[in-house]
Amino acid sequence: MRGIILHGGHGTRLRPLTHTGPKQLLPIANKPMSQYCVESLKEAKITDIAIIIGGSGSNKVREYYGTGDKFGVRITYIEQDYPRGIAHAIQLCKDFIGDEKFLVFLGDNIIQKSVGGFVEEFEKSDAAASILLCEVENPSRFGIAEVKDGKILRIMEKPKNPPSNLAVTGIYLLTPKIFDIIDRLKPSWRNELEITDALHMMLEENHKITYHMITDYWKDTGTPDDIIHANGAILDKMEPYFHGDKEPGASIIGKVMVGRGTTIKNGASLTGPIIIGENCVVESGVTIGPNTSIGDNSKLFGCDVSNSIVMSDCNIDCKIKIRNSIIAFNSSIINNAKKDEKVFLLGEGTRIIM
Ligand code: G1P
Repeated sequence: MRGIILHGGHGTRLRPLTHTGPKQLLPIANKPMSQYCVESLKEAKITDIAIIIGGSGSNKVREYYGTGDKFGVRITYIEQDYPRGIAHAIQLCKDFIGDEKFLVFLGDNIIQKSVGGFVEEFEKSDAAASILLCEVENPSRFGIAEVKDGKILRIMEKPKNPPSNLAVTGIYLLTPKIFDIIDRLKPSWRNELEITDALHMMLEENHKITYHMITDYWKDTGTPDDIIHANGAILDKMEPYFHGDKEPGASIIGKVMVGRGTTIKNGASLTGPIIIGENCVVESGVTIGPNTSIGDNSKLFGCDVSNSIVMSDCNIDCKIKIRNSIIAFNSSIINNAKKDEKVFLLGEGTRIIM
């Protein structure tokens, strides 16, 4: 089987974070979110992967993943000129796929379960497609499947009056039959070729589509709050490690992951789950956690950060309580006086002095 990862789109709901790169490269637990897709495919023994890129951040994707060697996979890049929909992106992969079955991952979807079992079952099955469904509270935000007695009756995109709360997640197991269907597909109201419309057409033409439920964790990271939530969920499942230096008098409670060259100074206080990258300095008086990621080479003085993501090369020197925030690479916050609580959404290279 082959794999496809969708890595395009404008990420408008995540601005300013997406002004300088694609949203799928934003880190969750200090790793670009699309890397979880690459690793998941590799774990399912799918090592021939096409990454669909498009828009201003494409070079950053090529730079990060390269040939795929570093990740133990082979990557082919396919350009999409404009975000014309998931089905359109899949159609661009027709030659790459040939006559194999394949798995499509939306690069901004985070799951925790391995896809290996689904892949193995799909390889043996005679179904034309298989999808993963997950119960959600806000079904009109997603593709939705109507299911009866274990069979999918209808699949629709963001219905106003959803017939169920079963979201179609962004993980699709497909056969090349889909290409003939997409050829005949009309753009939707949002002017995109929708994968949900293609799947529905498959059903109408009597092709078999099976499904599985995701019952543990799935997140489409469309908003900053979604990213912060996924960050906490991933941290919660990680194995703890401590490769840095802890001065006597530093307090560490719960699960922490700390990288090489990082110093936790006397009087600093960490409450897991948290991850701190390499070569960071956490000064005396700093409080971090829970549910917080700090990227490599960041320096924290005097602050109190929880439920947040601070990316690499940041400098935070303030007494503010930083909550539910995302602070992108190479940003700094300097404040000598105030102690109030703040929420930040800072794009790359932001400098705030208060
Ligand atoms: C897309 C799909 C939708 C699916 C969702 C999952 O939505 O169109 O069917 O439920 O991904 O993440 P979009 O992110 O384009 O709103």
